[in-house]
Amino acid sequence: MPIEVLEERVFLLHSRHMTYAMRVDDAGRLIHAYWGGKIARGADFLGETPPFMEPIHCPPEQFFREECSVFGNLRFKETSLKVTFPDGTRDFRGVATGWRVDGEELTVTLEDERYPLQTLLHYRIWPDCDVLEKWREVVNTGGEPFTLERCHSAEFALPGTDYESVNCAGRWGGEFGLRSAPVGAGKQVYESLYGLTAHSVNPFFAVHRGADEEKGAVYFGALAWSGNFKIVVENVCGAFTSILAGVSDTDALWSLDSGAHYETPHVYAGRAEGFGGMSHALHRFARRHVLPDVLAEKSLPVLYNSWYATEFNVSLEQQKALAQKAAALGVDLFVMDDGWFKGRVDSTAGLGDWTADPQKFPGGLGELIQCVNGLGMDFGLWVEPEMVNPNSDLFRAHPNWILRYPNREPRLWRSQYMLNLADKEVENYLFILLDRLLCDHNIAYLKWDMNRYAAEMGCAASGQEEWRSLWRRHTEGFYALTRRLRKAHPEVELEACASGGGRVDFGTMALFDEFWPSDNTDPLDRLSLQEHYTLVYPAKCMRAWITDDALNGRDVPLRFKAHCAMCGALGVGTDLNRAEKSVLDELAGYVALYKRHRDTIQLGELYRLSSLEQSPIQLVQYQREESGVVFAFLRGGSLGRHFYPCRLRGLGKDTVYRCVWEGHTVEKSGAYLMEHGLTLELHGDYASLLITLEAL
Ligand code: DGJ
Repeated sequence: MPIEVLEERVFLLHSRHMTYAMRVDDAGRLIHAYWGGKIARGADFLGETPPFMEPIHCPPEQFFREECSVFGNLRFKETSLKVTFPDGTRDFRGVATGWRVDGEELTVTLEDERYPLQTLLHYRIWPDCDVLEKWREVVNTGGEPFTLERCHSAEFALPGTDYESVNCAGRWGGEFGLRSAPVGAGKQVYESLYGLTAHSVNPFFAVHRGADEEKGAVYFGALAWSGNFKIVVENVCGAFTSILAGVSDTDALWSLDSGAHYETPHVYAGRAEGFGGMSHALHRFARRHVLPDVLAEKSLPVLYNSWYATEFNVSLEQQKALAQKAAALGVDLFVMDDGWFKGRVDSTAGLGDWTADPQKFPGGLGELIQCVNGLGMDFGLWVEPEMVNPNSDLFRAHPNWILRYPNREPRLWRSQYMLNLADKEVENYLFILLDRLLCDHNIAYLKWDMNRYAAEMGCAASGQEEWRSLWRRHTEGFYALTRRLRKAHPEVELEACASGGGRVDFGTMALFDEFWPSDNTDPLDRLSLQEHYTLVYPAKCMRAWITDDALNGRDVPLRFKAHCAMCGALGVGTDLNRAEKSVLDELAGYVALYKRHRDTIQLGELYRLSSLEQSPIQLVQYQREESGVVFAFLRGGSLGRHFYPCRLRGLGKDTVYRCVWEGHTVEKSGAYLMEHGLTLELHGDYASLLITLEAL
């Protein structure tokens, strides 16, 4: 039974390998009791569980591990709920007044004996994935409005302190720079105030004590939210470690009228063995329960994208020539990036006017699409619907549709403003425009970009509205628009991009099939970025392109670039119009090779066997039942012959596998491959290998 309720006061949620337990104490508070490996005997949780430590001169509210801690009332730690009632009272004394189990979902209701606020704590267990989903609702059950100043999605408590907390230190072109830091004193806060997920930190937590890839408990959670967020990991008085995750409370306020509900985004949490275990749980969960259905369990096509070849300077003839070459490589999907729409000569004009530029495409997009389809490929297009350039018909017609303060000159960035997606009129306008674009053309894919951070969360209209809710309403507008578009065009593949990897999160993942994790396609930088990206997000929705020498100009062999891009959903961004025949032939070979193994790569289990951070080589294995693929990367060789052990994982011990790589074919048992491993010889700078495995 995935959910047990004992004596009306002990709640247990069990997945395959995990148990999460809570109890209602004598004062009616819902207290966290256990989160860890599976304990199937629920009766073990009857009776009291004392707190791990009862600090002297510390009020109990501070060190009780509550499932919903509330600001004030002798709590000094970061709490997960803060409310202001009309009389100025700013706390909520919630006691458990009811619970409901519905299949794999438990809801516990907390109420205040005096104030008309109800908090519903929702828990859903996903036994097949070892994931616990948590979220909350706040309801105004009274007659007068009150304001919510903070309402996190979920709260977690780990016994004791001395944990390490993992997140990213990222930036444009350098997303997913992973950092693990001790939660020594006070709090660690990972927060986005950019109006979207952004590049600097990512909305997840992974907390551990010395865990590595394979061993040690890792407690993790991914927040399904693409706007301002906040994750707090705190050492509470040396007694326990608290973790909170939710929408950021900075510059946030939410007014709840009589009868109104506020629902938080959801958190997908778990406890796994090693970082590898965490990734497996999250990847499986993403594929089975989060990603849009149409492509979730299918491999993504190999795409060609013209951005690095042409930038804004696109033309019909040049795109047709690229398409011909892309088709000859075996590409499935040809994508025209930025530069195709009305007035778009550079970044200063055109955003907002989503019709083909009459100078560049005098007859519209039809001729190019026909050409692409005639070559046997699908056609895809770049859009950036949330933005507008001042030099556009849209802005000239609706200067008040942007986010801005009424009496200030709005701030341009990348020569663009952000449309106010919280405004239904704007959302409807964009929907009609995009819907028309997709209805009128045979478009199989959209790359949905977003190239500035949000600021000036206001609107030209002056009124009594509380603008501090706009951060959240704007993100909801983005979800509403993409949800409508998906519903109207479920077969159209959507890729989320925000100046590279600025919108990689589980909220976006529910509406998009894939992410563009970075504009940086330098293979060496990518190896580290991709390794960290896959800690939380599946390789199947990680687009990776082979490009000409990108960003930092490192001169890397095509083979190394190709192997690196094959670690995710392969794309090609090379300038094919200028590429030599030998390069085109080599590329065609990689595309064909990738297609033979892409189901294993995109739909298999991923194992990070070794990292360039700790070893001279990076090894990544993808295993899908009987078939496997391993990529090996050596950054730089040194004098002499070097052999590297490659110990595999996830194999049947007694199964015999045929392993093939350049000039080698060996047949070994799973036990041998996992314990002894293959011996790989790599030498020279930027050497790489692709090894395939097939069970005999
Ligand atoms: C930023 C994206 O990350 C790039 O891939 C490209 O699409 C440009 N925008 C186009 O303006």
